[in-house]
Amino acid sequence: MNVIYYSADQDHATWVPGLQAALPHAQVRLWEPGAPLADYAVVWKPPQQLLDEQTDLRAVFNTGAGVDALMKLQLPAGVPVVRLDDAGMSVQMAEYVCHTIIRHFREFDGYETDMGNGKWSFRKPRSRIDYPVGILGLGVLGERVARAVAQFDFPVNGWSRSPKTLPGVNSFTGEAELGAFLAASRILVCLLPLTPDTEDLLNAERLSQLRPGGYLINVARGAHVVDADLLALLDSGHLAGATLDVFRVEPLPKGHPFWAHPRISLTPHTSARTLRSESIAQIAGKIAAMQRGEAVAGVVNTTLGY
Ligand SMILES: NC(=O)c1ccc[n+]([C@@H]2O[C@H](COP(=O)([O-])OP(=O)(O)OC[C@H]3O[C@@H](n4cnc5c(N)ncnc54)[C@H](OP(=O)(O)O)[C@@H]3O)[C@@H](O)[C@H]2O)c1
Repeated sequence: MNVIYYSADQDHATWVPGLQAALPHAQVRLWEPGAPLADYAVVWKPPQQLLDEQTDLRAVFNTGAGVDALMKLQLPAGVPVVRLDDAGMSVQMAEYVCHTIIRHFREFDGYETDMGNGKWSFRKPRSRIDYPVGILGLGVLGERVARAVAQFDFPVNGWSRSPKTLPGVNSFTGEAELGAFLAASRILVCLLPLTPDTEDLLNAERLSQLRPGGYLINVARGAHVVDADLLALLDSGHLAGATLDVFRVEPLPKGHPFWAHPRISLTPHTSARTLRSESIAQIAGKIAAMQRGEAVAGVVNTTLGY
């Protein structure tokens, strides 16, 4: 069995030996143009050439949860694309989102500024009931985040394509219920996959449906948000702030207005990192299962794009 690995970002010097150790009966190599035909490809943002040349693939494994980069390519017909399931990402996402919500709700940034200025003063405690959290996307990551946020007694709303029954989460479904979901939420967390249906979803019309003093946390993909519309709503005061981990262009270009905005907090696409050893173990386990003819979890619906 032959396995190829390619990544536009990740460190092949550790992934290739890691996969080799997990699949001792396979030959694992770094893909280069003209590489011998492989049975499985393990990839992150591969070039079209890889898929065009590798005509014997039985499956393509994506070393992340989001498959939007792969979905832009011409995929080989009938070859399953398998995403990374949790693999240690959902707990990272839960801690990032809970940290951000609590920092905003408890006004910790304001306290830090005050104390830095030698000022000892109190802010009026806020009521959780006034800060309902809306989570766009209740998949592998969104569900974990929703459960974690509910643990802190915030009212939680969730939006997905299909209805969900999750303890402590009010489920809203599909385009028809998006307006009601936004109107019921003040803190908005985006955990949707990037697809033609969700690109530019968070525009002026949608973001202005959030309760006044809304707060956006985008941890999915930059192209979910219309940057200029977000800036206009922050400047008008309808939105109180935003924490952004993902951007249309990454790294965020120098001079982009997000860098200097006083009510935007930024992180460099780090809310949930791919953890190498967990991910290699998961992918190797799925390759072994496929070799035995078993079904595996995480097969992407290429028609829906996630
Ligand atoms: N910033 C980071 O470090 C980082 C790390 C990992 C992932 N991500 C991003 O997070 C995204 C979500 O990951 P995941 O593993 O939770 O994805 P997932 O398991 O595929 O879940 C996607 C969720 O979005 C819902 N959804 C999709 N399209 C929709 C639509 N048009 N209308 C309403 N709901 C829709 C799905 O509804 P159904 O349940 O009804 O299908 C599902 O609940 C990834 O695609 C990736 O872009 C970011």
